[in-house]
Amino acid sequence: MLQKPLSKPESLVLVIFGGSGDLTKRKLIPSLYQLFKQGKLPRRFAVLGVGRSAYTDETYRPHLDTSLEKYLARGEYDASMAEQFLSSVYYLSIDPSDGAQYGELCERLSSIDREISNPGNYIYYLSTPPSLYGDIPRHLASVGLNVEDETTGLRRIVIEKPFGYDLASAEELNRIYQSAFEEHQLYRIDHFLGKETVQDIMALRFANGIFEPLWSRNYIDRVEITAVENMGVESRGGFYDETGALRDMVQNHLAQLVALVAMEPPVQFNADLFRNEVVKVYQSFSPMSETDIRERVIRGQYTEGEWKGINHLAYRDEDKIAADSRTETFVAMKLYIDNWRWHGVPFYIRTGKMMPTKVTEIVVHFKPTPHKMFASSDGRSIPNQLIIRIQPDEGIVLKFAAKMPGSGFEVKKVSMEFSYDQLGGLASGDAYSRLLEDCMLGDSTLFTRSDAVEMSWRFFDPIIKAWQEEDFPLYGYPAGTWGPKQSDSIIDHGHSWTNPCKNLTNSDLYCEL
Ligand code: BG6
Repeated sequence: MLQKPLSKPESLVLVIFGGSGDLTKRKLIPSLYQLFKQGKLPRRFAVLGVGRSAYTDETYRPHLDTSLEKYLARGEYDASMAEQFLSSVYYLSIDPSDGAQYGELCERLSSIDREISNPGNYIYYLSTPPSLYGDIPRHLASVGLNVEDETTGLRRIVIEKPFGYDLASAEELNRIYQSAFEEHQLYRIDHFLGKETVQDIMALRFANGIFEPLWSRNYIDRVEITAVENMGVESRGGFYDETGALRDMVQNHLAQLVALVAMEPPVQFNADLFRNEVVKVYQSFSPMSETDIRERVIRGQYTEGEWKGINHLAYRDEDKIAADSRTETFVAMKLYIDNWRWHGVPFYIRTGKMMPTKVTEIVVHFKPTPHKMFASSDGRSIPNQLIIRIQPDEGIVLKFAAKMPGSGFEVKKVSMEFSYDQLGGLASGDAYSRLLEDCMLGDSTLFTRSDAVEMSWRFFDPIIKAWQEEDFPLYGYPAGTWGPKQSDSIIDHGHSWTNPCKNLTNSDLYCEL
């Protein structure tokens, strides 16, 4: 059943806490500019950046203009469009951790409301360090900016990940948010869900009849999910060293990908029914004992490495990283889903910084034929693989065996390939634009619900605890490699990780370092 179309408010102020931060300039402002260009913002719209940096409206706008030029895709920046868009951007310099300064926020919002005839419709976006995630909703509530009723306007709040540092802090945050806002006002963002290719996992599974009958322990041998990057922590050392790969990527982005691959078809694609299915997957994650964690979870940290002729610093030598840091920049793990469909099927998930390439992909390995009638030249059978390429070279590949021309019956692995380019429009579709627009529309389907965040933490929390043990290994891997060798040890039956290359059809090959 299709969902009813939702509508945007006629006017809106988007308040970005962390207005001078990295995410704002790299992602939020460019995404809003794209929505502006496409005519998808409310007719009367303003952005209010809030932060401690001492910008004024006049100095903030050129700062963002430079970011637009830098971070928009080639050809998307248009100086006069940018000027028009930035004319409705404002800045307020306050310390968001200080409740006494929220009176100034109220005054500033009222003055913008008067300027654009806004009846008090506000979306707050928390793009600050996570240490402020508890303060801001409390302070907003103390000045009544949380209240949504007939006399005020709409009030929604978007919270960046990681939501919580562990299970206890996530539960505590949920308590704070739920005492200041209603659940329908809360939008916990995980930008992976804004990616077209991530949403397409559902279309692949549920808009086609041919995959679902095979989509279970009966036919699937294992699933691999890789989300790796070929860069380090860049300017985010302070944040990253407190966070690490498990909180930054695994507990949210990778868990979501597992959920989409493993979930049952929702009866309808709406916020309640879709998110119920996500929660059910998290509920079925098979809990790990400390022994399981030691056997199935590998953490690593990049060390110095020469790669493509450049000498890369070790993580510990990067800016704002402790010289004896034990923060992980790599995680690989094997997890199981204890339910009827997936019992016994390993899900291998992996993420890392400073790896040979930037790629996110899912490889579904099907079981081999029960009887080997045909084999490749080296005598091996060729199990089928379905590769879902989330980024880059967005697409889907099905690998299967085909007979080599000529006498005999030698078979060879070949590919059927779909590339997203064929559909057009992907370049302009940025994950943040999609999610910001959904939030304006009041559609929370692609945002994480409180029970999902807690359920996911329930599974990952014991890993964080186990890592506090001094003797839990942290393996080094040279920058530019596929992570610690020990990560191979978690893969069963002599299989190995699929290390993807840029070219879809050659994803069996190792990338050239
Ligand atoms: C963010 C993480 O959520 O996702 C970053 O905080 C990471 O560390 C990024 O680089 C990866 O996202 P994408 O969309 O570039 O794959």
